[in-house]
Amino acid sequence: MLVLGIESSCDETAAAVVEDGRVIRGEAIASQVAIHAVWGGIVPEIASRAHVEHVLPVIEAALAQAGVGLADLDAIAVTRGPGLVGALLVGVQVGKALAYARGLPLIGVNHLEGHLAAVFLDSPDGRAPSSFPHLGVLVSGGHSEILIVKDHGSYEALGATRDDAAGEAFDKVGKVLGMPYPAGAQIDGLAATGNPRAIKFPRAMRGRGYDMSFSGLKTAVAQHVHTHGVPTGTVLADLCASFQAALVEQIAERVQLALDEHPMREVVLAGGVAANRGLRAGLLAVCDKRGARLFVPPPSLCTDNAAMIACAGTFRLQRGERAGLDLNAVASLPLDVRALREKGPGAGRARA
Ligand code: KG4
Ligand code: ZN
Repeated sequence: MLVLGIESSCDETAAAVVEDGRVIRGEAIASQVAIHAVWGGIVPEIASRAHVEHVLPVIEAALAQAGVGLADLDAIAVTRGPGLVGALLVGVQVGKALAYARGLPLIGVNHLEGHLAAVFLDSPDGRAPSSFPHLGVLVSGGHSEILIVKDHGSYEALGATRDDAAGEAFDKVGKVLGMPYPAGAQIDGLAATGNPRAIKFPRAMRGRGYDMSFSGLKTAVAQHVHTHGVPTGTVLADLCASFQAALVEQIAERVQLALDEHPMREVVLAGGVAANRGLRAGLLAVCDKRGARLFVPPPSLCTDNAAMIACAGTFRLQRGERAGLDLNAVASLPLDVRALREKGPGAGRARA
């Protein structure tokens, strides 16, 4: 089964052809990181225009790499939310047009579900979880959530950030330190050479359940820099290591609590921040203590991509799901339907 995935929720225009939800046959991505870097963050209007420019070339490139044409596809899966609505609409409209023109089934995919599904891609060596339920830890530039993944497409949210997402905290701290956006990977690199105990940054909401908070930590770093100036050399590395350690500790504590209260043998770490070496090491230590196995997609599949959308779409297709041509983009789209009912349709954050 060949599914074309289309992703345009934020600042990457991506397309991928995935076979049976597991094997990436072709993929292409047009990143807007350089375009937005000038502004220190994503400008929604610019993002939408760049998606319009890149979406068709990216689809053509993915098909060409896979050595297939539209006639060979079995379905089209497209991200329908959450994300920037103008950006999402580009992918949704193109997905609908192709599905209509070719008479193909269309599937609307939640971007967060895509991140969690990425672990099932290209993993013949058993790097994917073997059972449900497993624990999902989703940390990206717009989301930080801990969920029970009951099955493909079925989730129970345990907790989420109450303010900034983990990646957002990395990027804001990077801005304070004069680093280009996005700063997560650079801070990660510097942290690896620094002392995580050099500066005692606050550990927010300790012992208060599953919800997290990263905005106070970001402010504490900003205040430190305001008082002591922007550091360089080993002092900068120490600051990055201390910030990262405080953030990782908060997430690791929640994962430990989740494994204690809901014993599960497998944990999936997903989203752009899953590329962080400190976080991987921190969660690995917790998983080792609790006898659980940690699964993390390779770095290229942690950040936004279309293969993860095709993968999640394939699982939905296999369950017989189809979207109509009235499929619409939804800026706020939580994974846990119960959370949607409790908090209303506005629940969730704009960026994933
Ligand atoms: O999932 P993603 O590609 O986009 C969103 O959907 O948000 O995640 C991007 C985020 C950015 O905030 C970036 O700084 C962060 O992931 N990130 C990292 C690392 N690599 C990317 N954060 C910490 N350490 C990294 N190595
Ligand atoms: Zn994402």
